[in-house]
Order: sequence, then C-alpha cells, then structure tokens
Amino acid sequence: MASTVFIAKESASGEPRVAGSPDSVRKLAALGLKVVVQKGAGLGSQIPDADYAAAGAKLGTATAAKTADVILRVRRPTDAEVKNYKKGAVVIAIMDPYGQEKALAAMAKAGLTTFAMELMPRITRAQSMDVLSSQANLAGYQAVIDAAHVFDRAVPMMMTAAGTVPAAKVFVMGAGVAGLQAIATARRLGAVVSATDVRPAAKEQVASLGAKFIAVEDEEFKAAETAGGYAKEMSKEYQDKQAALVADHIAKQDIVITTALIPGRPAPRLVSKAMLKSMRPGSICVDLAVERGGNVEGAKAGGIAEVEGVRVIGYDNVPGRIAASASQLYAKNLVTFLETLIDKDKTALAIDPDDELVKATVLTRDGAIVHPNFGGPKDQKGEA
Ligand code: NAI
Repeated sequence: MASTVFIAKESASGEPRVAGSPDSVRKLAALGLKVVVQKGAGLGSQIPDADYAAAGAKLGTATAAKTADVILRVRRPTDAEVKNYKKGAVVIAIMDPYGQEKALAAMAKAGLTTFAMELMPRITRAQSMDVLSSQANLAGYQAVIDAAHVFDRAVPMMMTAAGTVPAAKVFVMGAGVAGLQAIATARRLGAVVSATDVRPAAKEQVASLGAKFIAVEDEEFKAAETAGGYAKEMSKEYQDKQAALVADHIAKQDIVITTALIPGRPAPRLVSKAMLKSMRPGSICVDLAVERGGNVEGAKAGGIAEVEGVRVIGYDNVPGRIAASASQLYAKNLVTFLETLIDKDKTALAIDPDDELVKATVLTRDGAIVHPNFGGPKDQKGEA
C-alpha cells in the first residue's frame, strides 16, 4: 500500500517556515505517495491551503498525523506531538539534537524513526538535501537586507545634483555559505565590500565575488581548514593577531556582518565592545552567530541591542524572516532525501540502514537512540 506523508503545521512560536511546498507535494504525489497537509501549515510562508490541494494533497487536521507513515516538519516535534504519531512512523526535521537527550529518548520510546536533516553529509550526492546550505544562503542575504533596513544612510553611492552620497562600507566576517551570499548581496546593493575568514580556501571565493580579502595569512592560517572543509578553532596567538588587524579595519566600516562558526564549539568572539566603540555613529552590526553564542560582544539573541553606539542586530531564526523562499528550498531538500528512502515500485518506505545518508542522519529507530553522537552504539550502522 502506498505510504502516507503528513506535512505538519509548525507549533513553535516564531517559526513561519513549512516542510512542504506545492512543488514538493506534486513531486511526492508523482512518486505515488499520498500526501496530507495540515490546514494552515503554509500560511506563514504565503502558501494557502488551496495551493496544496491543487497540487494533489488532501487537507487535514493534526489528527491525520496519527495514521501517517512519514511526517515532514521544520522543527523537532514536541512530546505531545510525538505521542500523536504512530509507532514505526518516520519523522524528518531539523532536529537540533545537541543537549536534547530527553526529547530524543521520548521519540525513541514512541518507536519513531527520526532523521536530523542538519546532519546530512556534505558530499556531492547530498548537495540538494543540504539544509544548512539552503537556509544559511538565505540568512546571508537577509542579514544584508536587515542591516540596510535600519541603516540611516543609503548603501550605494548616489551622485545627485544635491551632492554625492558615498557607498557604504560592509565588512563580512566568516566567508562560508552565509558569508559569501552576504558579500554577493552587499555588492549588488552597491556597497564597498571586504571580508575575512580563517580558511585559505575562502580567499579566492571572496575575491571572485569582487570583495577585498583581509586576514592574517600566517602558517596557522595555511593549515586552518579541516578535511571536511570547516574551520578549526584558532590559537590564542592567532586570535590576538586577527583582532589587531580587524580592529583597524572595523573602525572604518559602516556595516559589519558576522557569520563565523566552528562545528561543535561556541561561535568565536570576533568583535569586542572596544571595536564597536571605534565605529562612527549610525553603524550597524549583524550577528548571524547569535544563537550559537555570538561573534559580537553585547549582541542579544532575539532583537537589536545598542552597544557602544552601534546597533547590533541579533535576530533569531533569520531564515524564518524570509520564510517563503526558505520553505521552498527546505521542502525541496526534504523531498530529495525522502526519495532515497522510498521503494519506487511499491511506492512505500524502504530504508536501507547501510546507506551513508541514513547512517549520518538517523537519530532513533526501533525504540532506541541509534546515532553514535547522541548515545547510540559507536559502531552503529543505522540499526538499533
Ligand atoms: P560554518 O557555518 O561552519 O562557518 C561559517 C564560516 O565561518 C566558515 O567559512 C568558517 O571558516 C568561518 N570562521 C570560523 N571561525 C572563524 C574565525 N575565527 N574568523 C573568521 N572566520 C571564521 O561554515 P559553512 O558556511 O557551513 O561552510 C563551511 C565549508 O563547507 C565551506 O568551505 C563551504 O564551502 C563548504 N561547503 C561544502 C558543501 C558541499 O561540499 N556539499 C556544502 C556547503 C558548504
């Protein structure tokens, strides 16, 4: 019998995204799956119920989740939602599993097979399933839009009969997925853009976007990238050299956007209060790392903090601020992954526990936590 996929309405406050789009519904229906969308699920992302229905979905209430084989979500379900799902159901979401042992145990106890999309390996095959990239790219764009929105000056240079407005100077710290999109967006708005990173590979990428690369390029910098392409935590000496270089530069900037993260560690502190104090009145800082501890001293998660005369933007859930686009891309990430879990002839679930995508992302299965990072057996193969 064909499996049923349920697209849930998010219950977390401040989460306007949704785990399905009319396009993704059409794709699921074409795979032979039955699709039920919870009424109102898409409203925060500008998708009316009628658009899902036109794409081939049925509309239902939360009760419809009880019989679903697959539940697609943006965020991890609450304990009450978990109890509403049938034993053996597959739940796919951005699970935010670190430090959430109790929630993982509840999902295991309910007999759910759960997958954390953010643990998807960054390999070519899984590129179209990479939620960290799809969401960080939009966050990088939105950071520049948010900064421009509160900046009391124009961003591009404007030559008018009444005089010339100079182009804003934008400095992007951390040139990964979010940072590179921030650079590209600031350039499109006409800013004079510079950027820094600790990974040497970033140098060429920054230059190819037309921005100036600024970094302490010593021996440590040349070895700062892990085999996985991520940054390492830098030594105290490097951090001091970086701070000295960056301090001079920041004093001349109008807008600073920070995106620096190190996997498994708190975000590195890159901008001090003294640096903020050196900026001229009206300057703006956007800290995209605020939910992971923050790159900017004094940044407050969930709003704008005035620190040493600089407005420091620390909005939560920045991809959610551009929800319609974020949902469109996230829904596509989900469908591409779900397709790998389906036996197309039987139009039903057929999960291969040895598939590297499954092994990397499965958290719970057959009543137990199976992921080695969260208490599962270290030699697990995706099986309990
Ligand atoms: P991320 O979100 O972990 O970190 C953002 C950026 O902050 C990184 O560029 C990192 O080098 C930088 N950073 C860390 N500490 C810093 C410091 N002290 N000062 C300045 N910058 C600092 O990284 P993201 O955006 O997830 O990308 C990491 C890498 O993975 C990149 O090389 C990216 O191109 C690569 N990637 C590969 C993919 C694939 O092969 N499928 C998909 C997406 C990204």
